Formats: sequence, C-alpha cells, structure tokens
Amino acid sequence: MFNIILFGPPGSGKGTQSEKLIAAYGLKHLSTGDLLRSEIARQTPLGLEAKSIMDRGQLVPDEVVVGMISSALEANPQAKGFLFDGFPRTVAQSEALDKLLSLKNTAIGVVLALQVTEEELVARLLNRGLTSGRSDDTNESVIRARIKEYQDKTTVVADYYSQFDKVVNVKGEGTVDEIFSALCSEIDKRMS
Ligand code: AP5
Ligand code: MG
Repeated sequence: MFNIILFGPPGSGKGTQSEKLIAAYGLKHLSTGDLLRSEIARQTPLGLEAKSIMDRGQLVPDEVVVGMISSALEANPQAKGFLFDGFPRTVAQSEALDKLLSLKNTAIGVVLALQVTEEELVARLLNRGLTSGRSDDTNESVIRARIKEYQDKTTVVADYYSQFDKVVNVKGEGTVDEIFSALCSEIDKRMS
C-alpha cells in the first residue's frame, strides 16, 4: 500500500491534481471537503452542522472529519492506497490518521506540499466562484479567512510530517500538466 497526502492551501490545486493522480496510480481519493459537501447536499445532520462553519471559512471539528475518514478507510479494505486531499488539517488530525493507518499496518509514504502565492490563490478561487456554486468561493473575505485558517492551524501539519522526513515541496504554479509531472516524479522515486 502506498498512501499520499496532497497538501497545500485553499486553491493550490489539490482537487485538480488528485483527479489525475488517482487515475495514474489507482489510489482511492479521500477529500474531506468533498465528503462534507456531499453531507450538505444530502442535508444530513452532520452536513447541516458543517455548512455554517464552512461558509465562514473555518475548520469543522477534528472529531467530525476524523470520523468520516475512519469510515472511509473501513469501507475500502481492498484499496491499493489512499490519496488524502484536504486532510489532515491540524496536528490532532495527523496523529489520528497515523493511528488509523497503523491499525491497517500501513503509513503515509509521502506528503506532497503544493507551493502557491497568496495572490494567485485568491485569484483562482474568485475565478472558480463565478461558476462553482461553492458558497465559500464567492467573496474575497471568506477566501482570505480560509487562507488565514490554513496559516494558523494547518501549516503545522507540514512541520509534523517533516520530523519523519516525509515532506516534499512542489511548485504549484505553472500548467496543470507541469505540476502533475513534478508530483509523479516525486511519487515514483519513493514508490519503487
Ligand atoms: P476543501 O474542499 O478541502 O477546500 P480547500 O482546501 O479550501 O481547497 P479547494 O478545494 O478550494 O482548493 P484545491 O486545493 O482543491 O484546488 P483546486 O484543484 O480546486 O475544504 C472546504 C472546507 O471544508 C474548509 O474550509 C473547511 O471548512 C472544511 N474542511 C475540509 N476538510 C477539513 C478538515 N480536514 N478539517 C476541518 N475542516 C475541513 O483548484 C482551485 C482552482 O484553481 C480551480 O478553479 C482550478 O481549476 C484552478 N487551478 C488548479 N490548478 C491550476 C493551475 N495550475 N493553474 C491555474 N489554475 C489552476
Ligand atoms: Mg479541493
């Protein structure tokens, strides 16, 4: 099993690159943002609770997302490996993920951290907000709040995995294909 965390701020291209990576490597894509949006669409109690938090650009509680990831790991016993997108976002989530994976006798192979400037992130998300229907993309103050939440609570996740020598920074600006090849070359080095 080879498990990857695709790490980076809001708008850094995690979702875009995840689609290509799961196709290339046959991994199971686990995006907590997508899982939460699906709960909202189905109007579950969890979705109703998460919506107002997401609309403010803040993180939903650790136990909520860890519970969703735990169920998704259970539901995919046959997976060749997992690609985590938008998770973990706090040190508590990282520690919980490491425990869940060790119960399956596996671990994170690499953390690929996309590097994109703040101005580029804001421009990408405002642009996506024109068509995405994502309520957290429509105004700049919510986009800035998501980036601040990332700086305050999520950048430490990279420090956490750095102590195990697992973090590789990858330039997240350029064409989608250029970034994809840079990611693949880092994965190939470690998978073999
Ligand atoms: P989540 O859904 O994870 O959103 P995010 O991290 O804010 O990031 P995005 O999905 O907006 O961006 P992305 O990096 O996937 O980039 P994308 O490929 O789409 O989280 C949403 C909310 O859910 C959070 O705010 C929080 O409330 C909650 N949540 C989720 N996970 C949580 C957790 N673990 N703990 C607590 N709360 C959690 O690209 C963005 C745009 O740029 C697109 O339009 C794309 O077409 C474009 N683009 C992509 N690549 C390029 C490129 N190379 N050049 C130009 N444009 C590009
Ligand atoms: Mg995404």
